[in-house]
Amino acid sequence: MALLEVRGLSKAFGGVTAISNLSFRVDSGVVYAVIGPNGAGKTTLFNMLSGIYQADSGEIHFKQQRITALAPYQIAKAGISRTFQNLQIFFNMSVHENVLVGCHLRTASGVVEAMLRLSRVRKEERQVHYWADESLEFCGLSAYRNEAADALPYGVLKRLEIARALAVEPQLLMMDEPAAGLNDTESVEMIHLIRRIRDRGTTVLLVEHNMDLIMNVSDRLLVLDYGSRLAEGSCEEIQQNPKVIAAYLGGEVRTGV
Ligand SMILES: Nc1ncnc2c1ncn2[C@@H]1O[C@H](COP(=O)(O)OP(=O)(O)O)[C@@H](O)[C@H]1O
Ligand SMILES: [Mg+2]
Repeated sequence: MALLEVRGLSKAFGGVTAISNLSFRVDSGVVYAVIGPNGAGKTTLFNMLSGIYQADSGEIHFKQQRITALAPYQIAKAGISRTFQNLQIFFNMSVHENVLVGCHLRTASGVVEAMLRLSRVRKEERQVHYWADESLEFCGLSAYRNEAADALPYGVLKRLEIARALAVEPQLLMMDEPAAGLNDTESVEMIHLIRRIRDRGTTVLLVEHNMDLIMNVSDRLLVLDYGSRLAEGSCEEIQQNPKVIAAYLGGEVRTGV
């Protein structure tokens, strides 16, 4: 059964069509990658899936529920979490605090209850700290817990965004270019992290340019070209697809990392 289903989705900015009549489905438990050249509409697709942009037409269904017109916080509550192409880190906060920011989505208490310091709220606070620490550990960041975010290297910050997104235990994690700006060693670490995320049961929707990473972690690929679907299939099918080779792939891909 599909966890996520997109049907006939379109979005234009002025005269520019960013996504055009796009349909695809993502099964539960897979790493599903969306690839395509710059400007193909990948980030726009993520922005619609996370409720930041409204679609002009089409439908998005998550767990058999229509989420097309929902606000970002409602989509997050439904179980979709994401990271950003351009880091969205609070540089004046510690690593731990950055992850805490994400966790409050999961709790039931509102601001007024929090101000009154009700016992339920205090219990939730402890729970939230636990989730944050667990997520930091999963992403190999425990050693940085109390460091200020602005003192950390880029590769660590990329993992911090992932730790924050995972702390809410989403069913679907969308990652927009997680390996951009990483060196070779960090990219291989990212491959292992993405596999571990899938193996713990979180479905991953991935946008990335690093073809080594894509071909090593993805179960299925969707190739976008000018906002439309050029091809869809397994890594092997995509690597052998003449349309994809002509438009996009070309070069050698190293698998087995
Ligand atoms: N907020 C926006 N306003 C105007 N044009 C946009 C906006 N976001 C994206 N676009 C345009 O939509 C197209 C797809 O962009 P984008 O989704 O960022 O592509 P990708 O992530 O695949 O590189 C591009 O032509 C881009 O200029
Ligand atoms: Mg993009």
